[in-house]
Amino acid sequence: MNAESRTRLNRLPEWNALGKHREELGQTHLRELFETDPGRGTGYTLRVGDLHIDYSKHLVTDETLALLRELAAVTGVAELRDAMFRGEKINVTEDRAVLHTALRAPADAVVEVDGENVVPAVHEVLDKMAAFSGQVRSGEWTGFTGKRIKNVVNIGIGGSDLGPAMAYEALRAFTDRSLTVRFVSNVDGADLHEAVRDLDPAETLFIIASKTFTTIETITNATSARQWLLAGLGGDQAAVARHFVALSTNAEKVTAFGIDPANMFGFWDWVGGRYSFDSAIGLSLMIAIGPDAFRELLSGFHAMDEHFRTAAPEDNAPMLLGLLGIWYGAFFDAQSHAVLPYSHYLSRFTAYLQQLDMESNGKSVDRDGNPVDWQTGPVVWGTPGTNGQHAYYQLIHQGTKMIPADFIGFARPVAELEPALEAQHDLLMANFFAQTQALAFGKTAEEVRAEGVAEALVPHKTFHGNHPTTTILAGELTPSVLGQLIALYEHKVFVQGAVWNIDSFDQWGVELGKVLAKRVEPALTEGADVPGLDPSTRALVAVYRKLRGR
Ligand code: F6P
Repeated sequence: MNAESRTRLNRLPEWNALGKHREELGQTHLRELFETDPGRGTGYTLRVGDLHIDYSKHLVTDETLALLRELAAVTGVAELRDAMFRGEKINVTEDRAVLHTALRAPADAVVEVDGENVVPAVHEVLDKMAAFSGQVRSGEWTGFTGKRIKNVVNIGIGGSDLGPAMAYEALRAFTDRSLTVRFVSNVDGADLHEAVRDLDPAETLFIIASKTFTTIETITNATSARQWLLAGLGGDQAAVARHFVALSTNAEKVTAFGIDPANMFGFWDWVGGRYSFDSAIGLSLMIAIGPDAFRELLSGFHAMDEHFRTAAPEDNAPMLLGLLGIWYGAFFDAQSHAVLPYSHYLSRFTAYLQQLDMESNGKSVDRDGNPVDWQTGPVVWGTPGTNGQHAYYQLIHQGTKMIPADFIGFARPVAELEPALEAQHDLLMANFFAQTQALAFGKTAEEVRAEGVAEALVPHKTFHGNHPTTTILAGELTPSVLGQLIALYEHKVFVQGAVWNIDSFDQWGVELGKVLAKRVEPALTEGADVPGLDPSTRALVAVYRKLRGR
């Protein structure tokens, strides 16, 4: 498809057919869809690896799904997917390949970038990470004074923080509990202060994670961490080599910072920051869960990659979830998408997905730079159930907004719960199933009246329902299942970006704020007259300086 026709996604016959179909669907309720086709409860499901994916509670029929697949076909989703897996430079604005899938390819796979097979280098780094993790976990790698490393502090931000931080929480049950693992990302000094205040520098390893090794937050925190360490260990610079390692693509900057290149774990420019957590960026996680569990995680990712690459469109889970999101954004004006894990261990999962989805698809020009006039990425939000039920679910149930939601749950809690707590799992999951039922089918005014509710309260106690949800159910939250889940969302985001014809792999939108922050800083610290400061910001800076006592 040429650039001219791609800019007119919403003038494609396939798009218009979906619009017409949406009109025909009108106010059709999920109750009617289930009455017409009771089999959809089992028919509208997919089994992918360990994931059971139920999409029966969506406002779709066979016709909707067929039309959505036609849209995917005409917009070249499969072709772009194949180009990604082949290592073509589909990140057009940065002229880069997009090959996070190579990070979890088996050792005998061949994936070429500019004619070179990158898989051996991937496995070389993995082996180096495994060797280092083994040394830290066994106590063989000691600190400068000879003490065993008991604390690991990852300093990074965005993709160099959210992935390992999320996965560390998710896989806590698999971690070595004798290690304290913390994540520092915020340039607010309080973050590092709280992370290290009760730690012994002699027992602390800092992992400086930064693809570029130029990110101001990370370099500032790393510099402060080095000062803290040296202050605690008598000031001998030689201590840095035992207490600092780097995860980066930029050996030059790592060396300039003072980290021994031998203690650097590399990756490549074809790994996007938000897609990097299964690269060297996962080192903190590997130390916590061990190399074997980390490899299980990678095999989970790879299984989903293979599914996405090879499954027919009607059986392809990322394709399906991506298209459903497009359906609601374009034809129901849904502005946001909730991800609601019914697992305490997935407490950071939605935060991780926020970067994955919103940094990838928060775009308003297409791949050729033309403005798009259709909805792109949604606002992604959510926290673990059941907490959300007692906070914001009211709005999902009875508010005025359409909020499609993913419910993620597990049949079994992870092993180590004592019997009484293990038994709570059924209550947790009863809530999980009850919520999607209530959201889909609601409660009619007649049903409310039949309960003898006073007429004045009937409208308040009525639930319209018809709120679409996906249910993702797995046996247990293992490393492999986590890998499958993350890759599912990575590829869902890919599908959406492909249909919308946007570059899901750049992030120019974060640049302006970075540049302005550098410009504003001297105004705060020195009261410098910063040229080009707008009147509002100038006034705010003056108030800040006064409050700061300057
Ligand atoms: O927020 C912009 C961004 O470039 C993200 O894409 C990235 O994950 C993050 O900053 C951190 O970048 P780096 O790993 O280079 O420090």
